[in-house]
Amino acid sequence: MPPPPPPPAPSVTDSPLTRGKIPDHLLRVSDLDPGVLPTLLDLADDMKREPLGWLDSLRGATVGCVFEKPSTRTRVSLATAAQRLGMAAIVLNRDELQLGHGETVADTARVLSSYLDAITVRTYEHSTVEEVAESSSVPVINALTNSHHPCQSLADLMALREHFGTLAGLRAAFIGDGKSNTCNSFLSACAASGMHLVIASPPGYETDADLLEEARQTADQTGGSVSVTTEPEEAVRDAQALYAEVWVAMDQHDQAAERTTHLARYRVDDLLLSQAPQDAMVLHCLPAVRGQEITSDILDGPRCLAWQQAANRLPTAQAVLHTLITTSQQRAG
Ligand code: CP
Repeated sequence: MPPPPPPPAPSVTDSPLTRGKIPDHLLRVSDLDPGVLPTLLDLADDMKREPLGWLDSLRGATVGCVFEKPSTRTRVSLATAAQRLGMAAIVLNRDELQLGHGETVADTARVLSSYLDAITVRTYEHSTVEEVAESSSVPVINALTNSHHPCQSLADLMALREHFGTLAGLRAAFIGDGKSNTCNSFLSACAASGMHLVIASPPGYETDADLLEEARQTADQTGGSVSVTTEPEEAVRDAQALYAEVWVAMDQHDQAAERTTHLARYRVDDLLLSQAPQDAMVLHCLPAVRGQEITSDILDGPRCLAWQQAANRLPTAQAVLHTLITTSQQRAG
């Protein structure tokens, strides 16, 4: 008996992705209209249930993955997601490109976009990915900058929605560096989803005031809220989800000693979790430093969603690539 035919690939006109404007690029979570975000997650749910159902949708297309920093989850999930859409993926390290030998970002983006159907970029300064987008004729997807990590936040929301059933009204606490890319993007994602987020950070690690204000304005529309504190115990008191974040990011090793000292009170361990509601779950974007920002007992225990978040990087990457590329192709006629 032949296998059942795959579900039809959604188009911009017949998909539910019409409740807001689909952006040309995904550089920050706030590029996604709050109406688009849940339908992108719906598509990711469908793709998780039927990973090969969209195998013919982008056959012949190619995504370039430019990585200036190490990556396990983002790089492999993007490349695999592309293959599951029938696409080819080319992973490019900076030193393999003329970019590493003096060619400008703008010239590189202009040329790459004449070959590729999408470009994903992991780099340092957020302005670099903005520069790529300005010169690219195809969608650019931020695979992490020092300021934002939107692909991670989509997987975080997907895991929370899978576990709790809904995002609106959910109470979350982010524990640690309020300036981190993970926190910045999770802040925007919570605000767009009508969630209530408390960020607990030590002095000197507070989230940027403009980002907070932007999130507060979004939360005013969605029914969510955003607040900050220096006290982790206060942040977790009513939280259904606690987000633990690495204390020393991959390019902060020269500050490891001072960051570890400043963030020592912001560990997610049994004591902190015991001060949260009994059904509270723990998030972590990985990679983790076991025993530092999170204990092994929690990371490997039944109240941790980190592995589900990591697994969800694949269907969310598939949904983002599919949505941005098909929209771009339709806009180009
Ligand atoms: N969470 C995350 O972005 O992991 P990688 O650095 O391994 O891509």
